[in-house]
Amino acid sequence: MATRFYVTTPIYYINDVPHLGSAYTTIAADTLCRYKRLRGFEARFLTGTDEHGLKIQRAAEERGVSPEALATEVSEVFRSTWPKLGCEPDDFIRTSEPRHKSVVQALWSRIAEAGDIYLGHYEGLYCVGCEAYYTEKELEQPGNLCPLHKRAAETVKEESYFFRLSKYQDKLLDLYANHPEFVLPAGRRNEVRAFVQSGLEDLSISRTTFRWGVPVPGDPRHVMYVWFDALTNYFSALQGAQDTALFWEFDSEKVHLVGKDIVRFHAVYWPAFLMAAGLDLPSTIFAHGFLTYAGQKMSKTLRNTVSPVALAEALPCAFGADVLRYVLLRSISFGQDGDFSMDELLSRYTADLGNALGNLLNRTLPFAETVPAKAATTALEDELLCTCMRRANAVAEAFDAYAPTAALTALWTVIQAANLYVDKAAPWAAKKSDPARLGMIVATLLEVLGGVSVMLAPVMPKVAEAMRLQLGLPPLAPSVGSDMWPFAPPSRTVGEPLARGLPLFPRFEKSTEQELRERFAPPKAEAASVPVAVEAAAVAAPAAPTEVAAEKSPVRPTISYDDFAKIDLRVGVVISAERVKKKDRLLDLRVDVGEAEPRRIIAGIAASYSPEQVVGKRVAVLANLAPRDFGKGLVSQGMLLAADIPGGLALMTPERDAEPGSEIR
Ligand code: MSP
Repeated sequence: MATRFYVTTPIYYINDVPHLGSAYTTIAADTLCRYKRLRGFEARFLTGTDEHGLKIQRAAEERGVSPEALATEVSEVFRSTWPKLGCEPDDFIRTSEPRHKSVVQALWSRIAEAGDIYLGHYEGLYCVGCEAYYTEKELEQPGNLCPLHKRAAETVKEESYFFRLSKYQDKLLDLYANHPEFVLPAGRRNEVRAFVQSGLEDLSISRTTFRWGVPVPGDPRHVMYVWFDALTNYFSALQGAQDTALFWEFDSEKVHLVGKDIVRFHAVYWPAFLMAAGLDLPSTIFAHGFLTYAGQKMSKTLRNTVSPVALAEALPCAFGADVLRYVLLRSISFGQDGDFSMDELLSRYTADLGNALGNLLNRTLPFAETVPAKAATTALEDELLCTCMRRANAVAEAFDAYAPTAALTALWTVIQAANLYVDKAAPWAAKKSDPARLGMIVATLLEVLGGVSVMLAPVMPKVAEAMRLQLGLPPLAPSVGSDMWPFAPPSRTVGEPLARGLPLFPRFEKSTEQELRERFAPPKAEAASVPVAVEAAAVAAPAAPTEVAAEKSPVRPTISYDDFAKIDLRVGVVISAERVKKKDRLLDLRVDVGEAEPRRIIAGIAASYSPEQVVGKRVAVLANLAPRDFGKGLVSQGMLLAADIPGGLALMTPERDAEPGSEIR
């Protein structure tokens, strides 16, 4: 059996700050790593940021900063967020770091030397949101819309290096057949297998039309496809000292936790790259589901994200981050989609944490100041200890299978059994009549609680430490080679002092609960659509992170009718449209607004509309805006109006055919 464990999260794009969805994977990875350490494994936990590619270059352009500056700023937000959620990664990798770039280039060269990279021409469709190539069949029609981002995929036509992915079709199918644990859960494996069986085409792995990426060795006109670069982080972060050997090459359990949207990259491309380079493969790609909020995937695109730190800090309890960790892992079965809601959090807080776990401690500690001596056992103790032992095995098996939800469910059966034991053993009665029996009851409960504190630690590390303090136990200090799992409730030395403290999970006032519900209410989808003017500058900076980032900007201060009358809105017809070189968000339009000559309008709508889609459209034009110079001769003489909708922009068009130049009132 492997004694080393290497767990990774996806590296996060830096066009967004951490939200509950990204926190979910990181919390799960931290939990598994803590579990393995308790089991005596030498463990490594890696996370980081994915900083290259067109998506990031565009995000930087929109903010008017360099990609480097954006990456440095946002990666710092990620790095400093994780400890606030109790996550302790051993390393944080940034793909813009030299230590990463040199490994990616070496990997490229190795694959090229093996003959699996060749130069060709790519022509096809690309979704910048996914940084992925699509076929027309995979996109929603009409309009070639990405199924995830609901935006038109862009046509890419350029010289490109290709990876001979087709050569690996059979090898990949053998891998899934011989190592079913390579893709988990099984449902995802079936999807991946079906995708590979349907035939693999060679993969375009370089681009020439933007610069923000790792240069291809020997041909700096090309930068590498961002997924080639990004996937390599799992390997590049281990370079140096003995880590590559210990955690990648030797017998080590190597698990990549990923969301279900990025399984293909991890379970098809990544093993194929590694096979081509003659390197070892990870043991498991585990795909979890999406966290939804009022039924919608939580995402920046849908503007319904929740800041995990704001949420954890808003809970009026000393262990907000642990509570959040518990609820995310307990309420949403790991591997499935699941909805996050404040109601669910509050009810788990009250029932599972306050009434079950907290209460068990409060029903034990008031009866003793030190560990009492044991007396003769009764059937009640036998039954409880038997449950504990069986369930301790079940908790471990669940963690071993990367199933934290099942682990917590099993752990809570121990807590329930112990509470039932208190009901039946009635220490309050024994206190009056039988001190020896009281000692036995309390000693039994202390052992069970000691075991619970260990099994809880992977998910709720701070609560586990606080419990142990009250139970008079030392902090957990895992060491390599020593298995601390409480397969039998750990015995205690008579006379050891206990340290009853404040309740771990104080009840929230009803008014507090209501405030939390209101503060973290999911945004209403229909209300999220407000008209926006889509001149280039209007599509600029993303909203600053808020607890519910979907909050719309408040209505601006009232203006007089005279102010409104100054605005000249006209119907226009788009005569021609083309993309603006090196400004991926912009379309350069000629719009007929009923004047002698069509106007030139530069509109920031390229992420939502292709040039072909806008030509011929009737649009609403703000016609008397002062001309705006975007440099290099690009002067815009007006602005289009569009609604800001989930997934992009929707141009405002008149409901009936209106002549170009018709006034809009
Ligand atoms: N940069 C790539 C990953 C490269 S790994 C070599 C990427 N980044 S991401 O920031 O868009 O997403 C990172 C992870 O967060 C993905 O696994 C994605 O599934 C996950 N999640 C994003 N939103 C999520 C939810 N609402 N729920 C659960 N996970 C979510 O993809």
